[in-house]
Amino acid sequence: MGSVKINNMTKSFGDFTALHEINLDIQEGEFFALLGPSGCGKTTTMRCIAGFEQPTTGQILIGDKEVAKVPANKRNCGMVFQSYALFPHMNVFDNVAYSLNIRELNKSNFFKKLGIYVRILNSKIGKTPKSIEKKVMEILEYVELSKHAHRLTSELSGGQQQRVALARALVMEPAVLLMDEPLSNLDQKLRHSMRNTIRSIQQDLGITTIFVTHDQEEAMSMADRIAVMDQGRIIQIGTPTDLYSNPSTPFIANFVGTSNIFIGEYLGEENGLSTIKFDEVVLRSSHEPKNKSEIHIVIRPEHIRVLEENENVDPQQYSVFEGIVEMSTYLGPTVRYDLKVGNQLMIVDTTYSSGSNIYQEGKSVRLAIENERVLLI
Ligand SMILES: Nc1ncnc2c1ncn2[C@@H]1O[C@H](COP(=O)(O)OP(=O)(O)OP(=O)(O)O)[C@@H](O)[C@H]1O
Ligand SMILES: [Mg+2]
Repeated sequence: MGSVKINNMTKSFGDFTALHEINLDIQEGEFFALLGPSGCGKTTTMRCIAGFEQPTTGQILIGDKEVAKVPANKRNCGMVFQSYALFPHMNVFDNVAYSLNIRELNKSNFFKKLGIYVRILNSKIGKTPKSIEKKVMEILEYVELSKHAHRLTSELSGGQQQRVALARALVMEPAVLLMDEPLSNLDQKLRHSMRNTIRSIQQDLGITTIFVTHDQEEAMSMADRIAVMDQGRIIQIGTPTDLYSNPSTPFIANFVGTSNIFIGEYLGEENGLSTIKFDEVVLRSSHEPKNKSEIHIVIRPEHIRVLEENENVDPQQYSVFEGIVEMSTYLGPTVRYDLKVGNQLMIVDTTYSSGSNIYQEGKSVRLAIENERVLLI
């Protein structure tokens, strides 16, 4: 059915290796995101799954079937591209009906032998069989475009074109839906609403979906699991919360959410807690560093508390240190502080409730962080 498994896949273009030993195990019905910076190999991975590229080594299985010898049009993958790739001279209905019509004509060996089915198809545009018409109208209803069925796609807004592309992929009832940066042409507001549309359609249909993006917020808000890629390698796979709370490398900590990252020095262990320092700031962490001689201290901005003048915290649970406000930014529900801590810059996000203090530039404040929240990687 719709699971996708990739075993030790590499892909080289000449002497350049675009993908190194990719392993993925995507469950049926899962919404899986490939996240990573430009050039890291997201599109290449998708093109290998879809059958537009052949892996140099390794295996791809869709369902239980190894697909090396299966051509792209037989892999049962629907693909939505960044550019949508709609036919501008056709209306919405015909764009969505096109592939179904081709499939119908392909069933006829007679036309296939004559090799004239595309010509016939062109003459059939607008004369779609009733069964196909019903299906197309259902899917257009679904993406809320039935009112525009007879408009040319060139007369639609970006978000509407995006939904035509989605409908065109879905109408084929693919086992796997592949979406390569489908929202990148849309403005911020539309991106947000399309995220919800795509996610709810995906859940409704339970269709296995692989979604490529370089926008971490998009991946975090939509996906069941995310594979973060860098330079042709998968660095970490996990749920959005896994990646956020347990980033395996400084790259992930930086790429998924905002992080304060400092090079730390290991001082020792006491009562099950690691003691580390950066500059002259000493912190305790309930985590154990993998490599004690090379420690990155990772602290999320929202995990640091700015203490009130006379406020105290349990010293067993928190490390307390000083910082000097360099800038405070009022953002409505939160206040973001840029602080100087030792010789480093630290970003701290605090919730703001009316009447609470906002500390100004030059103010020295006490900061507290729970042992649990000091990550060591
Ligand atoms: N046909 C090709 N020939 C040679 N190199 C290629 C080819 N296709 C892709 N590459 C290279 O492989 C690497 C990965 O490209 P890919 O398109 O997969 O990146 P991406 O993660 O999708 O990036 P973006 O976010 O910019 O779309 C890049 O360095 C790219 O230049
Ligand atoms: Mg790409």
